[in-house]
Amino acid sequence: MNSRAKPAKSFGLLYIRETKIPRGKAVMSETVKIIIEGNEYELPVITGSENEKAIDISKLRDLTGHITLDVGFKNTGSTKSSITYLDGELGILRHRGYSIEDLAEHATFLEVSYMLLYGHLPNATEYANFEDQIREHTLVNEGMDAMFKAFPTGSHPMGQLGSMVNALSLFYPKSLDPHRAEDAIGRTVIRLMAKMPTICSMIYKKRNGHPTVYPQNKLDYVSNFLNMTFGQVTMDYKIDPVLVDAMNKLLILHADHEQNCSASTVRVVGSSQANLYSSIAAGINGLWGPLHGGANQEVLEMLEKIRLDGGNVQKWIDKAKDKNDPFRLMGFGHRVYKNFDPRAKIIKKSCDEVLAKLGVNDPVLEIAKKLEETALTDPYFIERKLFPNVDFYSGIIYRAMGFPTDFFTVLFAMGRLPGWVAQWQELRREKQPIARPRQIYTGEAARVFVPMNQR
Ligand code: ACO
Repeated sequence: MNSRAKPAKSFGLLYIRETKIPRGKAVMSETVKIIIEGNEYELPVITGSENEKAIDISKLRDLTGHITLDVGFKNTGSTKSSITYLDGELGILRHRGYSIEDLAEHATFLEVSYMLLYGHLPNATEYANFEDQIREHTLVNEGMDAMFKAFPTGSHPMGQLGSMVNALSLFYPKSLDPHRAEDAIGRTVIRLMAKMPTICSMIYKKRNGHPTVYPQNKLDYVSNFLNMTFGQVTMDYKIDPVLVDAMNKLLILHADHEQNCSASTVRVVGSSQANLYSSIAAGINGLWGPLHGGANQEVLEMLEKIRLDGGNVQKWIDKAKDKNDPFRLMGFGHRVYKNFDPRAKIIKKSCDEVLAKLGVNDPVLEIAKKLEETALTDPYFIERKLFPNVDFYSGIIYRAMGFPTDFFTVLFAMGRLPGWVAQWQELRREKQPIARPRQIYTGEAARVFVPMNQR
């Protein structure tokens, strides 16, 4: 039985039936009774294929006049999904049944993307076809170049990325039709996957004032991105397999993470039948915030700040623990992982390898190591189960690879793209209704309007 799935016997809830649960589907296996103001109601319990359980409250308001309240959705399932399974207590992350450890060790990012998008790992022919289709669509419309030019110097890369991905819907107006055939939507998915690295590298080039390096379609997905980003139009760029490997791993580790803030945003926006480009642009904006994907930028900025302040790590740990100080240790803690982040475990190893192979000697990284050691042994962090998350290590690797700090979240978005698209597709295929939560109103009761001259 799943560690969290303990039958609730208190609060007027009583399990009354249990049946065998077939794997592969969420089923109604039990019911609970809920007692409200002396009246008893029976509600279904939905069991997932990993035995996780949810009380289905979709009829609760109709039956009882009550809604549930769960600010921040800490305990609310917004959907059933067959894409990603995550157990935060046990530190398990699997996509379509495959462990993140196996995927990071053995697969390429494009293989993982295919698996997320189409539900199974590709065979050699499927993989070759997928790669070919992506190669066909790597160029972006030259009109986008003019849009880049309009951004003020120093514009944040995430603002640019969200705008550019949204703008794709204007270059492909047919994508706006919510009733398009499945194969037409499939082409949009390929286009988006193909153009994402091109757009990301253009953001990098434009901010440096360098000319765009066009896609080289003989290269694989990741090498092409590195070439477009770090290559120059005037000379060949030597692609380092260590960087390609690290980049593949980083993208895989970010490829999906079930119903997090940005994926939920994609689903909420997509539920209004907004087109794929705009739904993904919404996800990009959700990811930007410092409590989500933006944390990888914040980590490095925090480390720099500590260095400039003299490198006294303990002082900053004390600040993070002080309830009167708003400072938090960025890259520490996670909403769902409460023992360890399996992705952080994998990336920590990769981080050590990349730093060793690139021979990086960076005072900021020394501060990161000290911070990690101190936080892992401090009772405040141990009691609250706060440990370095994936953003802590990914920021360090990106810096060693030569990416500017404010570009880190763009790399996260590139990795998360297939996950967002898979979530959007699932929502659409299952014809899920428009998302529309309710609320408990806490404002003024009805009052009489007083005209301005009488106030
Ligand atoms: N530094 C110091 N204290 C912290 C930190 C931190 N990074 N994170 C949580 N705490 C403390 C809180 O103050 C709180 O203490 P209390 O119980 O004494 O009041 C306790 O730990 C629980 O914190 P919550 O904010 O309730 O935990 P929640 O699950 O809501 O938040 C979050 C998780 C947002 C990730 C939080 O840990 C945080 O802000 N971390 C830093 C930002 C970060 O790294 N975000 C990246 C997340 S991973 C990702 O998006 C891929």
